[in-house]
Amino acid sequence: MAKIKKTLSQAIEERRATPSFDGTSIPPEDLRQILDAGLHAPSGYNMQPWRFIVVQSPEQKRRLRAASYNQAKVEEASAVIVACGDADGWRKDLDLMLHLGREGGMPESYAAQARTSVSNFLSGFSTEEMRAWLNKHVMIAFTHMMLMAEVMGYDTAPMEGFEQEKVHEVLRLPMSYWVVALLGIGYLKGTDKYYGGRYEMGHTVFGEEFGKPLK
Ligand SMILES: Cc1cc2nc3c(=O)[nH]c(=O)nc-3n(C[C@H](O)[C@H](O)[C@H](O)COP(=O)(O)O)c2cc1C
Repeated sequence: MAKIKKTLSQAIEERRATPSFDGTSIPPEDLRQILDAGLHAPSGYNMQPWRFIVVQSPEQKRRLRAASYNQAKVEEASAVIVACGDADGWRKDLDLMLHLGREGGMPESYAAQARTSVSNFLSGFSTEEMRAWLNKHVMIAFTHMMLMAEVMGYDTAPMEGFEQEKVHEVLRLPMSYWVVALLGIGYLKGTDKYYGGRYEMGHTVFGEEFGKPLK
């Protein structure tokens, strides 16, 4: 691993949604390490339905900003990773997924069964169900990347403030792509945002069943 500035615990504790970036560029090898962390995320049947568009050029960042309710940090960030899901990815990638699995020791019986069950499971999805499935997976990869960037000493900004159709247009995305979130990465400019606080554990965590406190 090229560069570790913080432990994972520090990164989780100290991370803030960065309000403003200074625009310093990110070395390509760092960006690749961050992206690689996303690609290592788990996914249902290992179908890896995420797709990422890395935007770094001033012109594209300016256009992406206009598609993101004019959020300045889209243009200020060193790089913006536009995290998408591909609703048709599984059709194209099923053979590849099984091939990789076999190389790693996937039993033939599992491979045969997975071929049928993946198709049966995903081909029946409505558009809404597919988007929910994509959101679930893309956000795991997104979080891997966000935390890897923080561990490497970068500042990050997750964003859902964008217009789906406009981002499609700017990035010339295929129709099967669904834009899930934007991840701005760079270095903080000025002072960081306040800590908004978190609900105490008893508010959001239960033990054994809903409403019972975790012992
Ligand atoms: C999925 C997601 C989307 C978000 N979208 C935006 C956004 O579009 N613009 C923005 O300024 N902050 C956005 N945020 C940042 C949140 O406002 C921020 O995470 C929250 O207030 C908690 O602050 P903290 O992350 O600094 O602890 C987003 C965060 C997440 C996780």
